[in-house]
Amino acid sequence: MARTPLMAGNWKMNLDHLEAAALVQRLYWELQDANFDYSKVEVVVLPPFTDLRSTQTVTDADSMHIKYGAQDVSTHPDGAYTGEISARMLAKLGCSYVVVGHSERRQYHGETDQEVGQKALAAFGGEMVPIICVGEPLPVRKSGEHVAYTLAQLDGVFAELSGELARDAVVAYEPVWAIGTGEVATADDAEEVCAAIRVRLGELFGGDVSQRVRVLYGGSVKASNVAGIMAQPNVDGALVGGASLDAAEFARICRFHDHVA
Ligand code: 13P
Repeated sequence: MARTPLMAGNWKMNLDHLEAAALVQRLYWELQDANFDYSKVEVVVLPPFTDLRSTQTVTDADSMHIKYGAQDVSTHPDGAYTGEISARMLAKLGCSYVVVGHSERRQYHGETDQEVGQKALAAFGGEMVPIICVGEPLPVRKSGEHVAYTLAQLDGVFAELSGELARDAVVAYEPVWAIGTGEVATADDAEEVCAAIRVRLGELFGGDVSQRVRVLYGGSVKASNVAGIMAQPNVDGALVGGASLDAAEFARICRFHDHVA
């Protein structure tokens, strides 16, 4: 089955709502200038919560094909959870995607696989697609246990989801040692774990689900290395941090088809 590649820009805690509007507009122009074909590559930006309304306004005004989503969601539908944001609130702002279980949330906020699974469930409840992040820290990579570690995270998260839901999820493999470090995993490293993720999804939910779910790679992706990563059979896209804050660079990443691997 052909899986449409997905290029998602995770802005993390950068840009206020005015800067966000400007960046989305610039990205749109960059892609427009290049006659970008959105039917071949899905383009998504993931701004901070406070930028979502401006992002919605700008994308709606010009009927852009750029989609957007949030970087986190509460497991709770509503209630006394100060500081949290529910799936319904995000859906109302037109979000298509929600990142769940990013390593920075796991590391600084102690999120467990079970909680990440519940967040994925909450995203589905709001008819949004969760981008479920998994990936090993450096000591695990050095010990050679990176596949087992990442698959254990995957098992823990997907234990919360039925096959009916799992088939529409997106998984992002982000080795922690490659995030924001400039240390990009080789295309073979990315393929090794992304392929193992697909095999495990097949074991859990069957071949239909595993062939359908998009598996992204994330960690120091740039225009200069994206083509080699995207040439791998089990890599269906990229979750891009730093490089997504530069409209021209992110547009070049989205146009990976134009590069020679
Ligand atoms: P960088 O692309 O800045 O390494 O960040 C990757 C990431 O964490 C995306 O979610």
